[in-house]
Amino acid sequence: MSNLKDQVVFVTGAGGGIGKIIAIEFAKLGASVAIADLNEELLKTAVKEIEEYGGKALGLVANVTDLESMREALKKVVSTFGRLDVAVNNAGVVGIGSIEEIEPADWDRIMSVNSKGVFVSTKAELEIMKPQGSGAIINSASIAGKMGMAHLSHYVASKFAVIGFTNSIAKEVATTGITVNAICPGIVGTGMWRGEGGVADRWKLEGETEEQSWERNKTSLIPQGVDQTPQDIADAVIFISQAKHMTGQAVAIDGGMTM
Ligand code: NAI
Repeated sequence: MSNLKDQVVFVTGAGGGIGKIIAIEFAKLGASVAIADLNEELLKTAVKEIEEYGGKALGLVANVTDLESMREALKKVVSTFGRLDVAVNNAGVVGIGSIEEIEPADWDRIMSVNSKGVFVSTKAELEIMKPQGSGAIINSASIAGKMGMAHLSHYVASKFAVIGFTNSIAKEVATTGITVNAICPGIVGTGMWRGEGGVADRWKLEGETEEQSWERNKTSLIPQGVDQTPQDIADAVIFISQAKHMTGQAVAIDGGMTM
């Protein structure tokens, strides 16, 4: 896996967080990377960072919930780099609230990005990979795709959907040379967990700071006692992307949370 220089990798939601690090780690191994996000400013910074590692990068403003937007972005990937070998459908949003607190609009927002976004992205990517006769698709699920979690019911439902969809498409395309897998990260200290409005902030006990909530949650929830870094997730994604006989799997990188 030391040289991926002929490979073209597309990562959604890669303006920051886990997605950006996945893109950087592929670029370090020589791959050409295209990154998509809603946020143009984040994309510009991410492209610069990838180029600083000597990688070839293309930033694309695109919305994973919109099929035409994804087709347009992927058209640019192919016209720039010639093909599409790996697609990481990483874009996602979190929502927290009890059943009394969440409203139908909250449900729709979470489902739209996390579940429909993976469906739309996969549909557009397969339009390129099928005629090519090769490719690896990796969808971001979560530990929340493998177990129920109080006050995260819409997020959990959206991630269970990602795993069910992944398994079904993996079967559908099994003979085409394309693998389709999901990853289930545990607790990663991106904006999703840290800072104002993040999960640690929302899960604070009375009198607790955000930092104390983060420490308590990760040590009590993760058997290994430490959080996962975006690099830990990138390592797994890179491995899965090259594993030709691995398909229809939902791989947890969670320090044992779902064991
Ligand atoms: P993040 O919030 O740091 O990054 C998500 C990125 O997705 C942002 O740059 C955002 O602009 C982009 N995005 C949101 N909606 C979009 C849309 N409609 N179209 C295109 N881009 C869009 O989140 P993080 O932590 O990096 O999460 C990445 C993935 O990993 C998500 O699917 C998340 O559910 C999953 N995950 C994260 C965990 C964590 O502990 N941080 C744990 C398990 C799963």
